[in-house]
Amino acid sequence: MTASLQHANEPASNTDRETAGRFEPKSLRTYTPTQAVLAKSAGVFHWTPEGRKLFDFSSGVLVANLGHNPSSWMQKYVSYMGWTGNPWNEGTYFNALPMTAYNAITPVEVQASKRLADLLQSRPGGKRLQQVLWAASGSEAVQKALWAALARDRTREMIVATRFGFHGKKGLAGAVTGSETDRERDPRVRFIGFPMKECADVSLRDKPFDPAPYRAELEALKQQFGRKLNVLITEPYIGGGGSYHPHKAYLQALQQFCRDNDIVFILDEVQSNFGRTGDLFAFETYGLEPDIVVLGKGLGNGVPVAAAVGSPTLFGTLDYGEGSDTWSANPLCCAAVLATLDEFARGNVLENSRRSSAVIEKGLVKLKELPFVAQVRGEKSGMVWGVEMRDHGGQSAADWANAVVLACYRGADNLGIHLLGPLAKKVIRIAPPLVITETQSQQALDLMHRLLAAMV
Ligand SMILES: Cc1ncc(COP(=O)(O)O)c(C=O)c1O
Repeated sequence: MTASLQHANEPASNTDRETAGRFEPKSLRTYTPTQAVLAKSAGVFHWTPEGRKLFDFSSGVLVANLGHNPSSWMQKYVSYMGWTGNPWNEGTYFNALPMTAYNAITPVEVQASKRLADLLQSRPGGKRLQQVLWAASGSEAVQKALWAALARDRTREMIVATRFGFHGKKGLAGAVTGSETDRERDPRVRFIGFPMKECADVSLRDKPFDPAPYRAELEALKQQFGRKLNVLITEPYIGGGGSYHPHKAYLQALQQFCRDNDIVFILDEVQSNFGRTGDLFAFETYGLEPDIVVLGKGLGNGVPVAAAVGSPTLFGTLDYGEGSDTWSANPLCCAAVLATLDEFARGNVLENSRRSSAVIEKGLVKLKELPFVAQVRGEKSGMVWGVEMRDHGGQSAADWANAVVLACYRGADNLGIHLLGPLAKKVIRIAPPLVITETQSQQALDLMHRLLAAMV
């Protein structure tokens, strides 16, 4: 057993940390220097068991796009599930939706599949997205998308992935994550470069970009593997790998290569979907038309649900059961998707988020005045950034990043900011719920400046 972290003046949280340390292995969580215990959440705030208030700058991990526990979402969720009115049978049971749909079809699932596919097809670039292959986590959905592509022709076994991406840890999703140097790799996977240098900071956003070197990498793979190349998977922006948001021409060049060579183009939007890039989907922002889009995280606003969405031709390559498991298309998940779709259809979530985006980005760029802040990256008009630290004053960038997360958590005057443990060791992820207002954004950034300035 490893000793659990303890923070001063947090008796209840410290007890929970200590108990978690005894009954849960540390592998359950990624590293964070705070090990925050979150007792309650509403909107853009969490509260610790001691009643300390924290701005949530993580949205879970880009999950609670509509904020935490939004009442209208919740009411819809309860109503889709049928948990209203008087229970049946002398109050013993609700006559409500089943909480399992294995080997059966539920109307709520049919409705969710139809509405999700209709929505995707109505967006520019969404016309190939016609069928929903549900999953219970992002990595499962990535794996199902890759399975479908590979099943087109089992002799075409090669997969291309963009280097330093994150698609999950399990199975084929793990195989296309990271780079060739990480560990023993799946021999079917080849990595190509992602233009990290060219998008290392927001100041490079409008600089000219030349996709030619990346086209050349793809052509070299074609020379080597020819028709064996079957499928290419990329994130629209590198998320878990350190927040790198590329020029459109890069992703468009990848897509063109796929079109020219009958290669399936999979866009992993598990992180970007439902508003993070300023549009509902990143394929709109980046002017793409993916063969399969992978959705997750914000899709259920906190209820674990994911999906691969593609064409009947592609998904028809898999036979009965080849994309099935216990939880996929579970009514609990489908009801959450419907409630999420309803909330976005009401219309002002993205407008609000774009306005707050400008306030947050201005505040983050100002952080570069501090000697330990190197770069700021993010989606223009979106709600996701990375702030990269640098070595300074004898402390490494990673030390600074951990210290920033801790200082924000400790906060001042009973108000702090909840951040995830650093990405790629030295990048602070900024991703509040899309419903954060301009005033809240300004308050949070002012607080962040105060806290970080005191660290110098
Ligand atoms: C782009 C992307 N794809 C896939 C995943 C894996 O999702 P999950 O953790 O739900 O398996 C993640 C998780 O962070 C992600 O960011």
